[in-house]
Amino acid sequence: YDSPTLKIDDPATLEALKNAADLLGQGKCVAFPTETVYGLGADATSTVGVNSIYAAKQRPLDNPLIVHVGSLRQLRGILAPSDSTTNTNGHTMNTDGGEIPEVYDALISKFWPGPLTILLPLPTNSPLSAAVTAGQPKFAARLPSHPIAQALCHLSSLPLAAPSANASGNPSPTSASHVFTDLRNRIPLIIDGGPCSVGLESTVVDGLRDPPVVLRPGGISVEAIRELGGVWARTVTSRASLDDAADSSIIPEAPGMKYKHYSPRAGVILYEFGTRPPCGKDLVRSTILSGKNFNGKVGILRTRTWKAGIGELTLDCLRSESSDVKSEFYGNEGVGGLTVVEMGLGKGGEEIGRGLFAALRELDDAGVDVIHVEGIEEVHEGLAIMNRLRKAASVVVRTVW
Ligand code: TXA
Ligand code: MG
Repeated sequence: YDSPTLKIDDPATLEALKNAADLLGQGKCVAFPTETVYGLGADATSTVGVNSIYAAKQRPLDNPLIVHVGSLRQLRGILAPSDSTTNTNGHTMNTDGGEIPEVYDALISKFWPGPLTILLPLPTNSPLSAAVTAGQPKFAARLPSHPIAQALCHLSSLPLAAPSANASGNPSPTSASHVFTDLRNRIPLIIDGGPCSVGLESTVVDGLRDPPVVLRPGGISVEAIRELGGVWARTVTSRASLDDAADSSIIPEAPGMKYKHYSPRAGVILYEFGTRPPCGKDLVRSTILSGKNFNGKVGILRTRTWKAGIGELTLDCLRSESSDVKSEFYGNEGVGGLTVVEMGLGKGGEEIGRGLFAALRELDDAGVDVIHVEGIEEVHEGLAIMNRLRKAASVVVRTVW
């Protein structure tokens, strides 16, 4: 990918992408598709541009951004800014630049372009705006495989700082309509490239630590990374398991991961893998407990073992429920019954990952009060999926059936 050839046949598409590149050159931000999720990109060398991202998303300023590049050459240009030249946008960027640390060689040749983000030393003379790294000593970089993301880096000749293009705290956007819902009237352009093929954000790794660590599970599994050799440690999500951890290979997560993430409006109740599906009583109690805008509507997201038709079963179950549960439920003013909206996320990890964020948003749009989600095993794609679900969940049910 040092000399990528990008062929965009359709003149209208090329024209649109050039317009987007112009906006980026002017320090504006643009939402664009990547293979993972939609990104909200701006010139990573422009503080005005980068600040417009934080403002549009209402993102906390201490949560650093990933720098997207169109080629390794462009990345090397950030690493060694000393022998620099000035490009047409007036930004100082060298052309050949410094070396990428060897620890990443195997990962880059196997997974780039693709859903992997690596941490790199921030050069003293960095052309990146300080707002990109938010005080971190390293910067994060990724070479995305999506042709539109690549085209924008090439047409603008800019490295693009880009977080996910959701309003901060919401599930990441996996279609242009999700971006529109969250950021309409806040950004000048959304490029619609259809649904994202991966659906979960990139895996973030720091190979400069000893031991090297996977800071955020994502589109590339930890197993696939370890297969290439090296003792890659990984992080844990909950504070409790962090305190418990006698294992020094388990360390706190990447900066920014402490913030509320991936949360739909509805409460999320996550069932650990192997837990029985909720019965009528569970649905009623959790719906009542969820509080505020109670309207007797619950969502169910099935994955591997829960069978379709839980909603019907639970209504049966409800009818035979003890009178206290019934009165608890039917006693609520204005509630005529329980409506259950069920969706299957699929059985395979890839499929579940691709549809997860869209399903959370869809159930929100359906106006459910709570979403009951069947968890999966934390292997392969399951690790990233459960990481996102744990962050979205207000309750985790642990009793195994
Ligand atoms: O797939 C993705 O990674 C998507 C697409 C748009 O590329 N981007 C994305 O960005 O998910 P964002 O901002 O939602 O998540 C970036 C995360 C941060 O929360 C932080 O954990 C980590 O990447 N990160 C970024 N820069 C870092 C740095 N300098 N040091 C440590 N971690 C960093
Ligand atoms: Mg994000």
